Amino acid sequence: MLKKNSIIKLINNCGLLMFGSVMVFSGLLLQIGYHHGHHGEIEAIRLVLGLNYFNWSDIHIISIILVSIGMVFHILWHWQWFKIVLQKRKLLIKNQQAILLTIIFLLVAATGYISWSIKLNGGSEIIRKDFIEIHDKITWILFVYLILHVKKRFKWYFSALGKLRRKRNSIDIKNGLHILEIERK
Ligand code: HEM
Ligand code: HEM
Repeated sequence: MLKKNSIIKLINNCGLLMFGSVMVFSGLLLQIGYHHGHHGEIEAIRLVLGLNYFNWSDIHIISIILVSIGMVFHILWHWQWFKIVLQKRKLLIKNQQAILLTIIFLLVAATGYISWSIKLNGGSEIIRKDFIEIHDKITWILFVYLILHVKKRFKWYFSALGKLRRKRNSIDIKNGLHILEIERK
Protein backbone atom coordinates (compact mmCIF):
# COMPACT_ATOMS: atom_id res chain seq x y z
CA MET A 1 0.00 0.00 0.00
CA LEU A 2 1.21 3.50 -0.77
CA LYS A 3 1.80 5.28 2.52
CA LYS A 4 1.47 9.04 3.08
CA ASN A 5 5.27 8.98 3.42
CA SER A 6 5.57 7.91 -0.24
CA ILE A 7 3.73 11.05 -1.42
CA ILE A 8 6.05 13.26 0.63
CA LYS A 9 9.03 11.29 -0.77
CA LEU A 10 7.77 11.84 -4.33
CA ILE A 11 7.35 15.60 -3.69
CA ASN A 12 10.84 15.76 -2.16
CA ASN A 13 12.47 13.84 -5.04
CA CYS A 14 10.65 16.04 -7.61
CA GLY A 15 11.85 19.12 -5.70
CA LEU A 16 15.42 17.76 -5.75
CA LEU A 17 15.17 17.20 -9.48
CA MET A 18 13.79 20.69 -10.15
CA PHE A 19 15.93 22.78 -7.78
CA GLY A 20 18.95 20.51 -8.35
CA SER A 21 18.74 21.42 -12.06
CA VAL A 22 18.53 25.16 -11.21
CA MET A 23 21.51 24.74 -8.84
CA VAL A 24 23.64 23.01 -11.50
CA PHE A 25 22.58 25.43 -14.26
CA SER A 26 23.20 28.63 -12.24
CA GLY A 27 26.49 27.25 -10.83
CA LEU A 28 27.87 26.28 -14.24
CA LEU A 29 26.71 29.58 -15.72
CA LEU A 30 28.53 31.54 -12.98
CA GLN A 31 31.66 29.50 -13.67
CA ILE A 32 31.64 29.65 -17.46
CA GLY A 33 30.08 33.12 -17.79
CA TYR A 34 31.97 35.00 -15.06
CA HIS A 35 34.84 33.03 -13.48
CA HIS A 36 36.60 31.61 -16.54
CA GLY A 37 39.35 33.84 -17.84
CA HIS A 38 38.89 36.38 -15.01
CA HIS A 39 41.70 36.07 -12.51
CA GLY A 40 41.08 39.53 -11.11
CA GLU A 41 37.77 41.37 -10.90
CA ILE A 42 34.56 39.75 -12.12
CA GLU A 43 32.52 41.77 -14.64
CA ALA A 44 29.50 41.79 -12.34
CA ILE A 45 27.22 44.08 -14.35
CA ARG A 46 27.65 42.18 -17.63
CA LEU A 47 24.42 40.42 -18.56
CA VAL A 48 24.36 36.70 -19.35
CA LEU A 49 20.95 35.41 -20.54
CA GLY A 50 19.41 38.72 -19.41
CA LEU A 51 20.70 38.63 -15.80
CA ASN A 52 23.82 40.01 -14.12
CA TYR A 53 26.31 38.24 -11.83
CA PHE A 54 24.43 39.18 -8.60
CA ASN A 55 21.12 37.85 -9.97
CA TRP A 56 22.71 34.50 -10.93
CA SER A 57 24.53 34.35 -7.59
CA ASP A 58 21.20 34.87 -5.76
CA ILE A 59 19.52 32.18 -7.90
CA HIS A 60 22.37 29.77 -7.04
CA ILE A 61 22.09 30.51 -3.29
CA ILE A 62 18.26 30.16 -3.21
CA SER A 63 18.38 26.85 -5.11
CA ILE A 64 21.22 25.63 -2.86
CA ILE A 65 19.21 26.33 0.30
CA LEU A 66 16.17 24.45 -1.11
CA VAL A 67 18.34 21.52 -2.31
CA SER A 68 20.11 21.38 1.08
CA ILE A 69 16.74 21.12 2.90
CA GLY A 70 15.60 18.40 0.45
CA MET A 71 18.93 16.58 0.84
CA VAL A 72 18.53 16.43 4.65
CA PHE A 73 15.28 14.43 4.11
CA HIS A 74 16.79 12.43 1.21
CA ILE A 75 19.71 11.31 3.41
CA LEU A 76 17.50 10.68 6.47
CA TRP A 77 15.13 8.50 4.41
CA HIS A 78 18.13 6.44 3.28
CA TRP A 79 19.85 6.40 6.67
CA GLN A 80 19.23 2.64 7.05
CA TRP A 81 20.65 2.14 3.52
CA PHE A 82 23.85 3.97 4.50
CA LYS A 83 24.15 1.97 7.75
CA ILE A 84 23.83 -1.38 5.96
CA VAL A 85 26.05 -0.47 2.98
CA LEU A 86 28.83 0.98 5.14
CA GLN A 87 28.96 -2.19 7.24
CA LYS A 88 29.46 -4.69 4.41
CA ARG A 89 32.49 -4.54 2.09
CA LYS A 90 30.66 -6.32 -0.74
CA LEU A 91 27.75 -3.85 -0.60
CA LEU A 92 30.17 -0.94 -0.37
CA ILE A 93 31.88 -2.01 -3.62
CA LYS A 94 28.51 -2.64 -5.32
CA ASN A 95 27.20 0.81 -4.31
CA GLN A 96 30.45 2.77 -4.71
CA GLN A 97 28.82 5.25 -7.11
CA ALA A 98 26.24 6.42 -4.53
CA ILE A 99 28.90 6.49 -1.78
CA LEU A 100 31.27 8.58 -3.93
CA LEU A 101 28.35 10.89 -4.78
CA THR A 102 27.73 11.37 -1.04
CA ILE A 103 31.40 12.22 -0.34
CA ILE A 104 31.64 14.64 -3.29
CA PHE A 105 28.31 16.29 -2.39
CA LEU A 106 29.49 16.86 1.20
CA LEU A 107 32.80 18.34 -0.04
CA VAL A 108 31.02 20.66 -2.49
CA ALA A 109 28.52 21.74 0.21
CA ALA A 110 31.33 22.35 2.74
CA THR A 111 33.46 24.46 0.35
CA GLY A 112 30.38 26.47 -0.75
CA TYR A 113 29.04 27.12 2.75
CA ILE A 114 32.48 27.91 4.26
CA SER A 115 33.12 30.41 1.47
CA TRP A 116 29.68 31.97 2.00
CA SER A 117 30.19 32.25 5.77
CA ILE A 118 33.58 33.97 5.18
CA LYS A 119 31.76 36.48 2.95
CA LEU A 120 28.95 37.06 5.47
CA ASN A 121 31.42 37.50 8.35
CA GLY A 122 33.67 39.87 6.37
CA GLY A 123 36.62 37.43 6.44
CA SER A 124 39.66 37.21 4.16
CA GLU A 125 38.75 37.54 0.48
CA ILE A 126 41.87 35.52 -0.50
CA ILE A 127 40.85 32.52 1.64
CA ARG A 128 37.27 32.82 0.34
CA LYS A 129 38.53 32.75 -3.25
CA ASP A 130 40.59 29.62 -2.46
CA PHE A 131 37.45 27.84 -1.27
CA ILE A 132 35.51 28.99 -4.35
CA GLU A 133 38.37 27.73 -6.53
CA ILE A 134 38.10 24.24 -4.95
CA HIS A 135 34.28 24.47 -5.18
CA ASP A 136 34.58 25.34 -8.89
CA LYS A 137 36.74 22.27 -9.60
CA ILE A 138 34.87 19.59 -7.64
CA THR A 139 31.44 20.71 -8.83
CA TRP A 140 32.37 19.25 -12.24
CA ILE A 141 32.82 15.82 -10.64
CA LEU A 142 29.55 16.32 -8.72
CA PHE A 143 27.82 17.24 -11.99
CA VAL A 144 28.86 13.92 -13.63
CA TYR A 145 27.87 11.84 -10.56
CA LEU A 146 24.51 13.63 -10.23
CA ILE A 147 23.69 12.91 -13.88
CA LEU A 148 24.58 9.20 -13.41
CA HIS A 149 22.59 9.03 -10.14
CA VAL A 150 19.40 10.59 -11.54
CA LYS A 151 19.64 8.75 -14.90
CA LYS A 152 19.77 5.39 -13.10
CA ARG A 153 16.73 6.26 -10.94
CA PHE A 154 14.58 8.07 -13.48
CA LYS A 155 12.16 5.13 -13.77
CA TRP A 156 11.44 5.49 -10.05
CA TYR A 157 9.44 8.70 -10.75
CA PHE A 158 7.11 6.88 -13.17
CA SER A 159 6.56 3.89 -10.89
CA ALA A 160 5.90 6.20 -7.89
CA LEU A 161 3.36 8.19 -9.96
CA GLY A 162 1.76 4.92 -11.18
CA LYS A 163 1.37 3.68 -7.59
CA LEU A 164 -0.19 7.01 -6.61
CA ARG A 165 -2.71 6.80 -9.48
CA ARG A 166 -3.63 3.17 -8.70
CA LYS A 167 -4.15 4.09 -5.05
CA ARG A 168 -6.45 7.01 -6.04
CA ASN A 169 -8.46 4.76 -8.40
CA SER A 170 -8.98 2.14 -5.69
CA ILE A 171 -10.18 4.88 -3.28
CA ASP A 172 -12.65 6.12 -5.97
CA ILE A 173 -13.98 2.55 -6.49
CA LYS A 174 -14.34 2.03 -2.73
CA ASN A 175 -16.20 5.37 -2.38
CA GLY A 176 -18.48 4.44 -5.31
CA LEU A 177 -19.36 1.08 -3.74
CA HIS A 178 -20.00 2.80 -0.40
CA ILE A 179 -22.44 5.30 -2.02
CA LEU A 180 -24.26 2.42 -3.81
CA GLU A 181 -24.61 0.56 -0.50
CA ILE A 182 -26.06 3.66 1.22
CA GLU A 183 -28.51 4.25 -1.68
CA ARG A 184 -29.66 0.60 -1.53
CA LYS A 185 -30.37 0.95 2.21
C1 HEM B 1 27.18 21.27 -10.12
C2 HEM B 1 26.85 21.95 -9.04
C3 HEM B 1 27.41 23.30 -8.62
C4 HEM B 1 28.11 24.24 -9.36
C5 HEM B 1 28.50 24.17 -10.81
C6 HEM B 1 28.42 25.34 -8.46
C7 HEM B 1 29.12 26.49 -8.78
C8 HEM B 1 29.30 27.58 -7.97
C9 HEM B 1 29.97 28.80 -8.33
C10 HEM B 1 30.60 29.08 -9.67
C11 HEM B 1 29.93 29.64 -7.25
C12 HEM B 1 30.56 31.02 -7.15
C13 HEM B 1 29.53 32.07 -7.28
C14 HEM B 1 30.13 33.42 -7.06
O1 HEM B 1 31.08 33.77 -7.76
O2 HEM B 1 29.58 34.13 -6.22
C15 HEM B 1 29.21 28.97 -6.21
C16 HEM B 1 28.92 29.50 -4.97
C17 HEM B 1 28.30 28.82 -3.96
N1 HEM B 1 27.89 27.51 -3.98
FE1 HEM B 1 27.91 26.29 -5.59
N2 HEM B 1 27.92 25.04 -7.21
C18 HEM B 1 27.31 23.80 -7.27
C19 HEM B 1 26.73 23.12 -6.24
C20 HEM B 1 26.65 23.58 -4.95
C21 HEM B 1 26.16 22.80 -3.84
C22 HEM B 1 25.66 21.35 -3.93
C23 HEM B 1 26.23 23.60 -2.73
C24 HEM B 1 25.83 23.33 -1.32
C25 HEM B 1 24.91 22.43 -0.93
C26 HEM B 1 26.75 24.88 -3.16
C27 HEM B 1 26.90 25.97 -2.35
C28 HEM B 1 27.37 27.19 -2.76
C29 HEM B 1 27.42 28.37 -1.90
C30 HEM B 1 26.91 28.44 -0.46
C31 HEM B 1 27.99 29.38 -2.67
C32 HEM B 1 28.25 30.84 -2.24
C33 HEM B 1 29.68 31.06 -1.90
C34 HEM B 1 30.01 32.52 -1.71
O3 HEM B 1 29.24 33.40 -2.11
O4 HEM B 1 31.08 32.79 -1.15
N3 HEM B 1 27.01 24.83 -4.52
N4 HEM B 1 28.85 27.70 -6.66
C1 HEM C 1 19.89 16.54 -6.20
C2 HEM C 1 19.51 15.63 -7.03
C3 HEM C 1 19.07 14.22 -6.65
C4 HEM C 1 17.95 13.61 -7.12
C5 HEM C 1 16.94 14.20 -8.10
C6 HEM C 1 17.90 12.27 -6.53
C7 HEM C 1 16.92 11.33 -6.81
C8 HEM C 1 16.88 10.06 -6.27
C9 HEM C 1 15.87 9.08 -6.58
C10 HEM C 1 14.68 9.31 -7.52
C11 HEM C 1 16.14 7.95 -5.87
C12 HEM C 1 15.35 6.65 -5.88
C13 HEM C 1 14.13 6.78 -5.02
C14 HEM C 1 14.42 6.85 -3.55
O1 HEM C 1 14.85 5.82 -2.98
O2 HEM C 1 14.22 7.93 -2.96
C15 HEM C 1 17.35 8.21 -5.11
C16 HEM C 1 17.96 7.32 -4.26
C17 HEM C 1 19.07 7.59 -3.52
N1 HEM C 1 19.78 8.78 -3.49
FE1 HEM C 1 19.39 10.42 -4.58
N2 HEM C 1 18.98 12.11 -5.70
C18 HEM C 1 19.72 13.27 -5.73
C19 HEM C 1 20.88 13.52 -5.04
C20 HEM C 1 21.47 12.64 -4.17
C21 HEM C 1 22.70 12.91 -3.46
C22 HEM C 1 23.53 14.19 -3.57
C23 HEM C 1 22.94 11.81 -2.68
C24 HEM C 1 24.08 11.59 -1.72
C25 HEM C 1 24.31 12.40 -0.71
C26 HEM C 1 21.89 10.83 -2.90
C27 HEM C 1 21.79 9.59 -2.31
C28 HEM C 1 20.84 8.63 -2.61
C29 HEM C 1 20.79 7.30 -2.03
C30 HEM C 1 21.78 6.73 -1.01
C31 HEM C 1 19.69 6.65 -2.60
C32 HEM C 1 19.20 5.21 -2.29
C33 HEM C 1 20.07 4.17 -2.81
C34 HEM C 1 20.06 4.02 -4.29
O3 HEM C 1 19.01 4.16 -4.93
O4 HEM C 1 21.15 3.75 -4.82
N3 HEM C 1 21.01 11.39 -3.83
N4 HEM C 1 17.78 9.50 -5.39
